[in-house]
Amino acid sequence: MENNIEVISNGFFKYKRGRFYAEETPVESIAEKYGTPCYVYSRHSLLSQINKFKAAFKNVDAPLICFSVKANSNLTLLKMMKEQGLGADVVSGGELRKALLAQFPPEKIVFAGVGKKEDEIELGVKKKIYCFNIENEEETDIIEKYAKQHKRTVICNLRLNLDIDVDTHHYIKTSIKETKFGLDLKTASRILRNNKNNRHINIKGFHMHLGSQLKDIQPYVEALDKVNRFCKEIGFKPEIIDLGGGFGIPYSSQDRMDDIGRFGDAIATKIKEMGVKVLILEPGRYIVGNTAVLLSRVLYVKKRQGKNFIITDTGMNDIIRPAFYGGYHSIFPAKKSKKTTKQMKADIVGPICETSDYIGKDIDVPADIQKGDILVVGSAGAYCFSMASNYNCRPRPCEVMVKKEKVSVIRKREEYKDLWDKEL
Ligand code: LLP
Repeated sequence: MENNIEVISNGFFKYKRGRFYAEETPVESIAEKYGTPCYVYSRHSLLSQINKFKAAFKNVDAPLICFSVKANSNLTLLKMMKEQGLGADVVSGGELRKALLAQFPPEKIVFAGVGKKEDEIELGVKKKIYCFNIENEEETDIIEKYAKQHKRTVICNLRLNLDIDVDTHHYIKTSIKETKFGLDLKTASRILRNNKNNRHINIKGFHMHLGSQLKDIQPYVEALDKVNRFCKEIGFKPEIIDLGGGFGIPYSSQDRMDDIGRFGDAIATKIKEMGVKVLILEPGRYIVGNTAVLLSRVLYVKKRQGKNFIITDTGMNDIIRPAFYGGYHSIFPAKKSKKTTKQMKADIVGPICETSDYIGKDIDVPADIQKGDILVVGSAGAYCFSMASNYNCRPRPCEVMVKKEKVSVIRKREEYKDLWDKEL
């Protein structure tokens, strides 16, 4: 357990005198004041991750680091990213609007997505975002139409499906043939040939996103080599390479992964060899994943012969990764038990009416755990709140940001009336 805290906390979440702290604030006091479930972000952890990522790519000439908004679209977080000079990677009209609301400069916004609607494309053209990453042949016609209408030349990259397998959960592999993402190389070269007729589209390079939670650098190197060979074959010199995101984080002390600096160095070398002018990166999980925890309260302890369940007030509607991907999240009691306290194994589950509604399986918990105790779920910054839903008519949790001993609400807890407000 202690090992897990060290690897997932970046040093900003820890036990002090037996109590779990986010920076200088005991999480029990947050649970008391703001209720549970509650997402708790550490401001300094976030800043530290942004800096680590930037430092890793210091050998690249001015990379454009676009935070992948899908990982977490809270406006306070987005504003912090913007203040730190990051751009935004968006995949929908909603994300684009939120990025603009957070005041990302449009010239630092990139728009990917396998199913961009016409109004979303038009908004991007009108707002003069940096580029579109094209995923379908027909998309070029639509972009051309709106670029012409708005008298603009729009920068585009072609998103390639390089058929590279990666070591991650099947649901988050995005560059193997069977997935819907990207263009095969034949179609990409056809689009490049035909684009000579499109006076308002300037295709400057390629986009790829190999998958998420990637632990080593090898697939990135393989991808860049493949793209390089392809470019030579068709006689095209890419000015832009957008490598997507995917940089993994540890969810427990068992997770082994290449240091982000190794990713940076290997990528920088390849990019230089290729003579690329602009490298775009779209990290999501790496920036936010380990900068938050989710607080939940124990509702019931159910002991059955051979099986214990801790039923908490947070479930798969708040945090779906365990149910959806079998994702592992470490779990800690907010109040550390004494060394002499016996431990027992238990499944930590939510109140949702689904068998898959669990947060952790066979977790060691103090045998005297009881109603009212607070459990802390780790690595809750990426794809947690952003994938939360109202399933079982449950209002979504509040989100707070901790800066040393100061706590600010950055998203209010939903109210019951939010559940039916839009219904007629
Ligand atoms: N760029 C593109 C085009 C993407 O599709 C994604 C993620 C990213 C960037 C950011 O990837 P990251 O750096 O965060 O790995 N819900 C899943 C993850 C889905 C990722 C989808 N695409 C999970 O909870 O593990």
